[in-house]
Amino acid sequence: MNTIGVFDSGIGGKSVALAIQKALPKNKIIFRNDQEHMPYGNKTNDQLLSLSLPILKDMQQQCDVIVIACNTITTTIISILRQELDVPLIAIEPMVKPAAKLTKTGIIAVCATPATLSSPRYKVLKEEYAKGVKVIEPDCSDWAYLIEKNQISASEIRETLSSVLKEGADVIVLGCTHYHWIEKEIENEVGDKALVIQPEAAIVNRLKQVLKQLA
Ligand code: DGL
Repeated sequence: MNTIGVFDSGIGGKSVALAIQKALPKNKIIFRNDQEHMPYGNKTNDQLLSLSLPILKDMQQQCDVIVIACNTITTTIISILRQELDVPLIAIEPMVKPAAKLTKTGIIAVCATPATLSSPRYKVLKEEYAKGVKVIEPDCSDWAYLIEKNQISASEIRETLSSVLKEGADVIVLGCTHYHWIEKEIENEVGDKALVIQPEAAIVNRLKQVLKQLA
């Protein structure tokens, strides 16, 4: 049995932790978040580091591996965290590469926080994996907060997605773990016009590899 840490600003990581628990039930999961300071998606790199590092340092005392279930943290400060911490970190990033492979229209949409969308790492993901693909980045800047407070409305989701579909996107990337909680609503909204993708299965697979190495 291993102890797996899962960290996010808020309830996004809870969705990831549940998926891990379901796939790897024999392990102990420690889930931590920073609800007091969420949303992380509008913070600077310095703020993200000073908020998350103390929590992660504390978690590493008890964990064999930590899943950073927060696209915002990994696209901005993951390399610093890897230097500062002494535990394997599994990072989560917007699934630009699979989306670019899956699209038939050549148009994808990435739903993510402002910090993720403006990060150099996200720019690299697009340059490396989405050459020739049009990437739409709808304004989801208040989604994480609204989801955390259980206040997101069907009309807000519909409005955002209808513009994305109008532009021709046929793959929608959930690039913030908070949005996992509204995956079904998003799928219902887009019907068969677009595929909605998120990284929980990929995280579980990566985790299985890392756990094997630890054994
Ligand atoms: N759930 C996080 C992510 O994947 C961040 C949400 C937020 O706090 O803004 O990006």
